[in-house]
Amino acid sequence: MATNASGFFTAPTVPSQRRKIQHSIRIFGSGFPFPEGISKRVFCSSTFEGAEKHVGASASESRSPKLVSKGCKLIGCGSAVPSLKISNDDLAKVVDTNDEWISVRTGIRNRRVISGKESLTTLAVEAAHKALEMAQVDVDDVDLILVCTSTPDDVFGCAPKVQKALGCARNPLAYDITAACSGFILGLVSAYCHIKAGGFKNVLVIGADALSRIVDWTDRGTCILFGDAAGAVLIQACDGEDDGLLSFDVHSDGEGYRHLNAALKENETDDELGSNGSVLGFPPRQASYSCLQMNGKEVFRFAVRVVPQSIEYSLAKAGLPASSIDWLLLHQANQRILDAVSTRLQIPSEQVISNLANYGNTSAGSIPLALDEAVRSGKVKPGHTIAAAGFGAGLTWASTIFRWG
Ligand code: COA
Repeated sequence: MATNASGFFTAPTVPSQRRKIQHSIRIFGSGFPFPEGISKRVFCSSTFEGAEKHVGASASESRSPKLVSKGCKLIGCGSAVPSLKISNDDLAKVVDTNDEWISVRTGIRNRRVISGKESLTTLAVEAAHKALEMAQVDVDDVDLILVCTSTPDDVFGCAPKVQKALGCARNPLAYDITAACSGFILGLVSAYCHIKAGGFKNVLVIGADALSRIVDWTDRGTCILFGDAAGAVLIQACDGEDDGLLSFDVHSDGEGYRHLNAALKENETDDELGSNGSVLGFPPRQASYSCLQMNGKEVFRFAVRVVPQSIEYSLAKAGLPASSIDWLLLHQANQRILDAVSTRLQIPSEQVISNLANYGNTSAGSIPLALDEAVRSGKVKPGHTIAAAGFGAGLTWASTIFRWG
């Protein structure tokens, strides 16, 4: 297992890593160490015949792939941000705050906010196209699209809309994952499971959020933190020895739900309805959601407690010491959280990826956006090992150790 290939590869200006899938016809085992320390195996009797049939399938045929792979690699990334930039000084015109307070307490100086014809779908599609271009994978070879978001353009989910807008002629399975700021890491884990147990080959994981839609712009305690963005990664099936997703660790705790949420408003019925003999309490009023509510101090405490624990657990599962990590890539919530976690893990600040000064907290978009910038700037190179963690509403948190490229 390569743990540190720093400087081994030359980073191209626009990295492009075409990968051919090495299909194996044998029975496959995941070989992935589960929490109990037992290496569980996933069995499937798959054949090339089935895979070829899938390649030739029409849009209306079953999209269930037939081949199960031993590993998966992250081979392309992309991102997109809205054009409208809002600085701390701009915010100070809307709420009682100032640049110094925001930047000292959070590290944030600017954020992007969706406007005009931009939507979550347009950002997601732009990010996905860039990831496909870097991976040199044709849009029609994508067989699964996971859109990780808590602010979809449609309450039923926007992944199928993204699939259509991407121009996927063969209608790959596409669905949303809602897990707030942990969404992207849980998307990676889901992609991994779909590839290893479900036989999918090219999976687009998109993290995209527009929290500007649910933030209370009169609440200075929350509105200063958030911005909108999308990022995407192309994950491809590969042989076991090339497996790039080394371990993961995932959690939820509904007890902490009260500290961060954007709940459905109380379902009040119209008293006047029912007085004319219709069923009392029916029909219900149209549903609407509250703005994002947060207890900042509790969320801060939660993050600095659970994130290092989770990363330590992922490192142990991968059999790696923290010193072998090339980059720490955390959900970009607050610079003070990034600093506290890296200090606890004894990872030097030069190895901590941070771009929240420019974008704020972009929820499920933050990790793939930061990864994309780090890859395109040549910081993250093929073979580098990255410890990544997401955390947020739910409460949910998750970490993974993966190798780039
Ligand atoms: N500008 C100026 N003053 C502000 C302010 C703002 N935007 N927001 C709050 N204040 C004031 C408060 O009213 C309070 O004033 P007081 O002392 O007179 O009562 C003071 O600043 C301190 O407020 P407090 O809420 O205690 O600040 P804090 O140090 O906890 O920082 C956060 C607030 C939100 C920056 C911090 O708690 C945090 O980052 N938490 C994590 C949130 C997060 O990452 N959420 C997303 C997770 S996915």
